[in-house]
Amino acid sequence: MPNQLFRTKSIDKLIADSEEPEHRLRKTLGPWSLTALGIGAIVGAGIFILTGTAAAGQKLEFHSILNAPLLEVLWSGERALGINGRPGAGPAIALSFLLVAIVCGLAGLCYAELASMIPIAGSAYTYTYATLGEIVAWIIGWDLILEYAVSNMAVAVGYSAYIDSLLQSFGITLPRKFMEPILVGGKWSGAYFDVPGFLIVMILTVLLVIGIRESAGANNIMVAVKIIAILIFVAAAAPHVKTANWKPFMPNGWQGVLTGGAIVFFSYIGFDSVSTAAEECEHPQKDVPFGIIASLIACAILYIAVAVVLTGIQKWPELANAAPVANALHAIGLVSVERWVVVGALMGMTSSLLVYQLGQARIWFAMSRDGLLPRVFSNVHRRFRTPHVSTWVAGIFVALPAGVFDIGELADLSNIGTLFAFALVALGVLILRRKQPARRRGFRVPWVPFLPVAAILCCAVLMASLPAETWLRFVVWLLIGLAIYFGYSRHRSEFASRQRLS
Ligand code: ALA
Repeated sequence: MPNQLFRTKSIDKLIADSEEPEHRLRKTLGPWSLTALGIGAIVGAGIFILTGTAAAGQKLEFHSILNAPLLEVLWSGERALGINGRPGAGPAIALSFLLVAIVCGLAGLCYAELASMIPIAGSAYTYTYATLGEIVAWIIGWDLILEYAVSNMAVAVGYSAYIDSLLQSFGITLPRKFMEPILVGGKWSGAYFDVPGFLIVMILTVLLVIGIRESAGANNIMVAVKIIAILIFVAAAAPHVKTANWKPFMPNGWQGVLTGGAIVFFSYIGFDSVSTAAEECEHPQKDVPFGIIASLIACAILYIAVAVVLTGIQKWPELANAAPVANALHAIGLVSVERWVVVGALMGMTSSLLVYQLGQARIWFAMSRDGLLPRVFSNVHRRFRTPHVSTWVAGIFVALPAGVFDIGELADLSNIGTLFAFALVALGVLILRRKQPARRRGFRVPWVPFLPVAAILCCAVLMASLPAETWLRFVVWLLIGLAIYFGYSRHRSEFASRQRLS
């Protein structure tokens, strides 16, 4: 049995399994649909909400060592500055966006190589199964479920807040009891359920079950609207920039830039979901690398432009609110532009929710096909050719908690999970270059081993810039996952069945 834990799946077998008629997905996506899918996932709630917190910093009511970034706790112990909250990056948040884009770019290149080699649904989970073995694959699959599900719960809650404010701007007020989560900040809010957050996830689930082509089509329209909204913001607000607002540029030094980076990392999450759709592409070897890199570059340009303009129109300490972009526009009197931005933000969140639900269902699907989760999750709908059971499971798994919890703060949890996955993917590139140097790669990471090693180190620094409390939650989630693995999956996996037969 110990051998089973580290047994790797052959890449040829992975590809052959995906070609079995009962598990075959429809192949319809091209490079531009993939890029749009990437932008769809990347630009979501993050740029519209977290940019403010990251620039202005966060003061917390309860002082605790758990609030401080792990790096600081290890460095200064009880004297860590972050026990009162997080230092803001100030105008240098633009620099945080640039640095995080570089880190994501490094990880993106590693994803591109593995996706071009192993064009199978399941992304980092599948790559790890082929490189590091079953137990690590399980951990990463479990970790990806955390990343996709938790960030979507947070985005669904944000969606509900934005739809509420849009309706209110038209004078429509819906019953409060059905517009908010039941628990806010760990206390009962007095509301019964957050209906918009629940409904949006369920509507998207139906769309995803009906078809990947229909979903990608809807996504393309939403991507166009949110990009236009961001461009309108930048163009309309740029003439109002006061250069005095950019001084001092780095009010909290590099510590602020790094902590800000660890927060806004959330806004880049999503390019990896391009690789989860690899099995549904016409030419995955070429198109997946293109989709990953193109969507990352486009988003980095948009984000840096927003950060530069936002910190130029309002002093950075004033950006600490739930809708910094919309409120900054309000403050300089651009109310009609503000409405556009709210619509763009809503589109952004909807498409981000859509792509994450798509990615999450593909992870459940891939893990089930390998026997690590119940087989029913890998059923494909006879008519629509979509993994309908896993899509419904993923929908309910996200929609119900989104109606109950206010989990905005859990964006951090999603960040740590994603950074961990990135580091393992970079490690996967190093291992496969050694173990299977001759296998065909549609795309190759340049300067191996330096580039993947740099990716791993950068992810480690960003992870260490997250609060100690986030680390604690992450470890608990992984322990629950290990309990399920040893209690269920280990006995059901394909390797276990083969051992029983031999
Ligand atoms: N990147 C996604 C967002 O910003 C998760 O909402």
